[in-house]
Amino acid sequence: MRHPSKPMYTPEPDVCHELLGHVALYADPVFAQFSQEIGLASLGAPDAYIKKLATIFWFTVEYGICRQDGELKAYGAGLLSSFGELEYCLTDKPQLRDFDPVVTSSTKYSFTQFQDVYYVAESFESAKEKTIKFANSIPRPFGVRYNPYTQSIEVLDSKKQITNLMDDINSEFQILQNAVQKLKL
Ligand SMILES: [Fe+2]
Repeated sequence: MRHPSKPMYTPEPDVCHELLGHVALYADPVFAQFSQEIGLASLGAPDAYIKKLATIFWFTVEYGICRQDGELKAYGAGLLSSFGELEYCLTDKPQLRDFDPVVTSSTKYSFTQFQDVYYVAESFESAKEKTIKFANSIPRPFGVRYNPYTQSIEVLDSKKQITNLMDDINSEFQILQNAVQKLKL
């Protein structure tokens, strides 16, 4: 818990931040996948890109704003767990910019002050797609994926791993084909 003498902020692990900020968002599958893409992108990435990915994480998972039905909604855990910054982020004081991983990943930020700039995603889906595209630009000699059946991360660096992935995609595709036929889409 935050110390009563400093209820606004603590640099230490903080149950208010984790529960009010992060937990609810991870119940959204698209958001959870978006967040995981950032983690997957970091595996085997050069240090300069790790820093860029950490910055993307900061401006999305921690301090992101998203459009929903034409309205701006805060979704970053740092905002949701700070009533002061939650109010501030939608005033005309900070700058709001469209989320673009290339630009976002090079933006400087402060750990201890309200942010000067926030990045606005069109949707979690769009943020995820843009981040996957950015991840593909990271120089590394192999691909990775999360295997939901084994609940583990696989490094796609051998013929066997690629074949397993193709088999999984093939069986998922058959499920899709079967469902589409039943619905007569
Ligand atoms: Fe956090």
